[in-house]
Amino acid sequence: MLAIFIDLQLRFTKVTQSHSPNTTTPLANIQACISADITAVNQVIQHALHSEVTLVNQVAEYIISSGGKRLRPMLVLLSAGLFGKIKPEHHQLAAVVEFIHTATLLHDDVVDESSKRRGQNTANALFGNAASVLVGDFVYSRAFQMMVAVQNMRVMEVLSNATNVIAEGEVLQLLNLHNADITDEAYLQVIHYKTAKLFEASTRLGAIMSNATPADEEALSQYGMHIGTAFQLIDDVLDLSGDTQVIGKNIGDDLSEGKPTLPLLYAMRNGTADETAMIKHAIEQGGLEDLPTVLSAVERSGALQHVRQVAAKEAELACAVIAHFADSNYKQALIALAEFAVKRSF
Ligand code: IPE
Ligand code: IPE
Ligand code: MG
Ligand code: MG
Repeated sequence: MLAIFIDLQLRFTKVTQSHSPNTTTPLANIQACISADITAVNQVIQHALHSEVTLVNQVAEYIISSGGKRLRPMLVLLSAGLFGKIKPEHHQLAAVVEFIHTATLLHDDVVDESSKRRGQNTANALFGNAASVLVGDFVYSRAFQMMVAVQNMRVMEVLSNATNVIAEGEVLQLLNLHNADITDEAYLQVIHYKTAKLFEASTRLGAIMSNATPADEEALSQYGMHIGTAFQLIDDVLDLSGDTQVIGKNIGDDLSEGKPTLPLLYAMRNGTADETAMIKHAIEQGGLEDLPTVLSAVERSGALQHVRQVAAKEAELACAVIAHFADSNYKQALIALAEFAVKRSF
């Protein structure tokens, strides 16, 4: 009974953290200048989720209402804010990028065999792999229907390319599984594709729908690429050092499936001979038997600080490319978001 109560409390905290701006989370200040817009985006999302098929509604509703930070919609809105009025088309596109993100999560948790997300069981754990993959397809295609409604060819180009690149990133990552010898460049290519690309598309769309100049659109897309990279670097740090209750996901998911992330690669290259051999073996075998020893080797090698520094450099680059925009609440929020991508604990 107590466990259920705690679980419900956690869920409630997660939902309020992500759905509405409040003063208790690091995202509250960032959201302050777009709070009405976030409400509008959540309304678009709720409205667009509907299906005649009960299971589609159940699974889609389950994942969408479980929280989530709504970072990608925030990026569309804040980028638009730099150029003046935030319009209904921006709300629509913000919902589209959140749907594409949600569909990738439904598929990703099947592929990664993950059992926890957003502080609750994953959709695959609860409804099974088939339902997750198929409802993921529903959410993807609903996103396409919504983007067509905006009737802008550039928008369709950006979103179809991003979706395609994310899929390539996930496949590239699959090819790298259990390979402890990949280069940092190969790892960075995967995270650019699977994660940073959608951040880039989000900021680019905000600019496109505001008729920004090509130079401003390019600057914002680079900002998105840099913070998306920082965001995934920290995701990989949190997989080895986060607090399950706070991140809402299980620790060690990456190691469990033999994913060679940058913290592991760094620890492997900078540890003692024994540690190097042990981490290499853990990546090649997968599983969680070696998790405690891997965690102490990672800790000892300074890998977490190293990767945090790499992420901090990306965040600096992100801020540098938007430095020329006139100061505004939106610009300050974008700067704060770059900082959040690095310092976040969830
Ligand atoms: C999770 O993204 C997937 C990654 C790219 C690491 P988020 O951490 O933005 O997921 P939610 O939407 O807030 O749950
Ligand atoms: C996130 O990769 C990328 C996509 C979902 C496309 P991860 O596998 O690291 O994300 P989490 O940790 O499961 O959220
Ligand atoms: Mg995953
Ligand atoms: Mg991860």
